[in-house]
Amino acid sequence: MARTILVRLNLDIKEKPIGAALRFNAAVDELRKISKPNNKVVILSHRGRPQGVEKKLSLRPFAPLLSKALRKKVVFLDNADLNKARKAIEAAPNGSVFLLENLRFLKGETENDPKLGRALASLGTEFISDDFATSHRADSSLSAITAFLPSQPGNLLREEVKNLSMAMGDTKKPFVLVVGGAKAKDKVGVISNLLKKADLVLVGGAAANTFLKADGVDVRDSLYEPEMVETAKKLMRSGKIETPEDFLWDGSKILDIGPKTAKTYAAYLRGARLIVWNGPMGMFERKKFSAGTAAVARAVLRNGRAKSVIGGGETVAALGLRKQVQNPKTNIFVSTGGGAMLEFLAGERMAGLEAVFKDGKKKRKK
Ligand code: 3PG
Repeated sequence: MARTILVRLNLDIKEKPIGAALRFNAAVDELRKISKPNNKVVILSHRGRPQGVEKKLSLRPFAPLLSKALRKKVVFLDNADLNKARKAIEAAPNGSVFLLENLRFLKGETENDPKLGRALASLGTEFISDDFATSHRADSSLSAITAFLPSQPGNLLREEVKNLSMAMGDTKKPFVLVVGGAKAKDKVGVISNLLKKADLVLVGGAAANTFLKADGVDVRDSLYEPEMVETAKKLMRSGKIETPEDFLWDGSKILDIGPKTAKTYAAYLRGARLIVWNGPMGMFERKKFSAGTAAVARAVLRNGRAKSVIGGGETVAALGLRKQVQNPKTNIFVSTGGGAMLEFLAGERMAGLEAVFKDGKKKRKK
């Protein structure tokens, strides 16, 4: 088989507005580096958390977007029949780039099924993982696949590991952790490990609702994680968790932190010397509920003395703060990882990362 690189990227994003998508741009950068006239490239990615095949989570819309960004045709490939996909790849000329349908439509992907790992591996001759944001998962396309192909980390993966290791290597005090966003279950869990290092944890978003619930506040119909309420209670005993004192409601749902909380959080952030921020404080996509997230963003950007690490860079991009955070003088690193970034900083084992950084010389036969 001609040299065919399988590259795991992260297109777990909305397709609009694509220009603002940090992950999309990172994917394009890597593709520019690896796609050559004398090889073929197959892009592997997941999108969302589908239960079986969910059309709205298809990766198909990204084929024209990638083609435009790369100025090279990106051919979309269905993945229901991987044999058929392999034949199409083999028949294509060198220089071709393919985008395989959402990996999580495949049975076994999130179970790290070796059979699926082998089937995916049969599509190419080597594997590059450049999906830092999913590298905390043991998915077939990140872990099992590496048993069957020569595998290596991509450029983004190396950069993330280097920068995040640097930030934690020298934990400046006070270290303020800000956690928001929707995936409350993952986040409440990871806070417990980071609590050993952090001096203060400011919570917003669905994570805050879980803590508020644990504190006996009636969050009515707001999004929260019932399974994590007990853990949240334990974590609150540390005295390091700061929950919102006021909120903005939309009907019976909390959709943002209130102005008093935004002020308090900004004041804490002014005094911090290490800031790790992951996840918006509310539903910032709606202007009415974006003030809390914007206040946190401003406080992070204005603190010139802190080293700051911001995860889930989409938030920052969406707030129109892209230029500021990309200015090297601001001492801010923007990670493509959300939960992955937090787990890395907490020193947790990351299956996807370990698989690709381990010695990959001896591979099982396909
Ligand atoms: C993310 O958005 O954090 C990554 O794409 C991983 O997604 P997951 O939490 O659904 O595994």
